[in-house]
Amino acid sequence: MVKLIIANWKMHPATVEEAVALARATDSPDLVLAPPFPFIKPVADAVRSSPLAAQDVSYEGSGAFTGEVSAAELVSLGVRYVIVGHSERRARGDTDEVVAKKMEAVLAHGMTPILCVGETREEHDAGKAEDVVHRQLTVVVSLNANRSPLNALVVAYEPVWAISRGDPNAQPDTPDHAVHMIQFIRDTLTPKPYTLNPRIIYGGSVTAKNARSFLVRAEIEGALVGGASLSPENINTIVSYASAGRSTK
Ligand code: PGA
Repeated sequence: MVKLIIANWKMHPATVEEAVALARATDSPDLVLAPPFPFIKPVADAVRSSPLAAQDVSYEGSGAFTGEVSAAELVSLGVRYVIVGHSERRARGDTDEVVAKKMEAVLAHGMTPILCVGETREEHDAGKAEDVVHRQLTVVVSLNANRSPLNALVVAYEPVWAISRGDPNAQPDTPDHAVHMIQFIRDTLTPKPYTLNPRIIYGGSVTAKNARSFLVRAEIEGALVGGASLSPENINTIVSYASAGRSTK
C-alpha cells in the first residue's frame, strides 16, 4: 500500500483562486487535500484524483450552532477524511472528550477520522510523551469502542513541539523517536480491549528535504504535512517518496 500523505493547508490560502491553483498543481490519488472549509467545494470540483479531508468538524448533528460545520455537510461535499484533535484545535479548547465526540460524528457518517495525538515540549522534556499519548488515545477510543468502522482509523503522531507553525527553522522529531512513538501507539491499540489496526502516520515539520528519512521507515505509514503542503514543488516531492517505502499493509 502506498503511504498516506495528507496536505493540511490550515488557514491558507487567502483566495479561492489560489486554493484551486494549489489543488490543481498537487492533484494526485496519493495526496489527501485538507483545505479550509470555504474551499472544499471549489477544490473538490477542481481535482480529479485527490481525496478530500476536512480540518475539523462539529460533534453536533444539526441545529442552531452558529459557525459550526456538521459531518453530514462534509459528506455532502464528498469529504472522506476528517482531522480530529489537531493540537491547534486542542489549544483552542478541544478536550479529549470533545475529540471523542467529533470522532463519533465522523464515524457515524462513514468518513475516516485522522486522530492527532502528541505531547507538548514541556511534557516531552518531563519524559511524559507516552503517558500523554496513551491518555489521548484511550479516552477517544474507549468512548467509541462500539463503533465497528473504527478499524478504518488513521492516527497521526504529531509532537506539538515539532509542528512548524510557519517557522522555516522548526525542527522535526527524529525518525527513530517517531518510530518509537508509533510503535507505542500500535502496542496500545492492538491488544484487547481495543484490537485495532490503525494506519499510523507522522506529522511535524515534514519537508521535501526530510520526508524520505521518515517515509522509508516501514512503521511510519504516511505523513501529515502542514507548511510544506502549500508549495506544489515540495508536496509533490514528498508524495513521490510515498511509494518509495511501502507500508506493511
Ligand atoms: P507542519 O504542520 O508540517 O507545518 O509542521 C503539521 C501539522 O500541524 O499537521
